[in-house]
Amino acid sequence: MKKNIVILGTQWGDEGKGKIVDYLSKKSSYVVRYHGGHNAGHTLVVNTKKIILHLIPSGLLHTNVIGIISNGVVISISELIKEIEMLKKNSFIINKRLFISQSAALILPFHIAMDVAREKKLGINAIGTTGRGIGPAYEDKIARRSLRIGDLKNEKQLSIKLKKIVNYYNDQLVYIYKHEPFNYKVILKDLLKAKNIIDDMIADTTIMLHNAIKNQKTIIFEGAQGSLLDIDHGTYPYVTSSNSTIGGVITGTGVGPKNLNYILGVTKSYSTRVGNGPFPTEVFNSIDDYLTKKGNEFGSTTGRKRRTGWLDGVALRYSVKLNSLSALCITKLDVLDGLKEIKICTAYQDINTLKIYSSLSFFNLTNIKPIYETYPGWMENTSGVQNIEDLPNAARHYIKCIEKIAKVPVHIISTGPDRNDTILIKNIFL
Ligand code: GDP
Ligand code: IMO
Ligand code: MG
Repeated sequence: MKKNIVILGTQWGDEGKGKIVDYLSKKSSYVVRYHGGHNAGHTLVVNTKKIILHLIPSGLLHTNVIGIISNGVVISISELIKEIEMLKKNSFIINKRLFISQSAALILPFHIAMDVAREKKLGINAIGTTGRGIGPAYEDKIARRSLRIGDLKNEKQLSIKLKKIVNYYNDQLVYIYKHEPFNYKVILKDLLKAKNIIDDMIADTTIMLHNAIKNQKTIIFEGAQGSLLDIDHGTYPYVTSSNSTIGGVITGTGVGPKNLNYILGVTKSYSTRVGNGPFPTEVFNSIDDYLTKKGNEFGSTTGRKRRTGWLDGVALRYSVKLNSLSALCITKLDVLDGLKEIKICTAYQDINTLKIYSSLSFFNLTNIKPIYETYPGWMENTSGVQNIEDLPNAARHYIKCIEKIAKVPVHIISTGPDRNDTILIKNIFL
């Protein structure tokens, strides 16, 4: 048994990736967060206990798992330490089981201030970011001025680099955004204090992963956000600042594509999106109320209400292609219980030319409307169902239709937030 698995979102995030990573982690040795930062919010429910992780890999609740935060992630050390403390408080011991790449770029307080100030200035044109400093931190990485985790090891160099970057940000924050200036000495003091806590975790995680592969260990790569929020392939500019599609695994870890054996696309049985930007299948009024209430569609990171919509088959087919998906995991099937009918968008129509497209460039999604197919709903309760035979016929039919539309098989169905509320159709480790 040796299979390295990528688990990533096919929509706009919050598909239930964390739950599925946790569910599959009992059979894996390593779980790796490879991109994004604490903009992610991954919810795990184990024996009614709810744990939300933003940076720590979702597999770490299993004592057999080594967690890695690899080079592609942007890290707020203060948030990471908060999360470690939270796990300790909840009796999850992670000593010597969490490693952080020396090459990961840091998110520092001025990144957060810049993110928030820019969004405020954009007003109604704001992206709707999580305000966690993600965009500015990735900008610094690309501009080659980031402080990286490994820089914490050399106090003198750290101090010089930090002073330079604080000056760079103060120029903009003070003069353009009328923000109070940051004092690099205060940030330096906090960083050195934090370094003592995480010092033993700093590693060359690329080498660690190469060794794990050599030793036939099973690795799960845990995606954050969703494919339609990808910086290159998503609904730009309403996207995040990293590659949430499959390429992010490779650049974000240093593991090559031949070592990725199975790519699972986690897909909510309907759609949601937090933040602004195109959302062709968005619904309002009673269906929105139903999905929001039943699906508890409020952001795990910011608490914002998520926009809701029907499943978008055009977007799903796009995600299948972008990521070379092996299979899908359909989550939150139970949320659809009680709906008389359920829709899936199977094509987009250009509202000017009336031409119908079964696939379309996501470069610009304006002037299109969704074309739906309607399926019968079911009144039975599917919460917690663990065998496919126990699902109502209409629910099984709905899953079959998704397979047909996406042109990939469904291997897992999730029927509730708990780890055990899961139907495993195919043992993906075999
Ligand atoms: P992630 O960011 O992709 O990990 O997803 P989030 O944790 O942000 O959001 C998913 C939400 O749905 C969380 O509150 C989960 O506890 C919950 N959830 C996951 N799977 C299911 C499911 O099958 N049914 C229900 N009702 N809730 C689920
Ligand atoms: P998980 O991993 C849902 C969205 C924000 C905003 C856009 C840019 O929990 O699925 P950013 O702060 O990244 O610059 O914001 O991306 N966003 C997410 N939406 N789930 C997430 O993560 C998200 N991470 C970022 O709402 O629209
Ligand atoms: Mg989330």
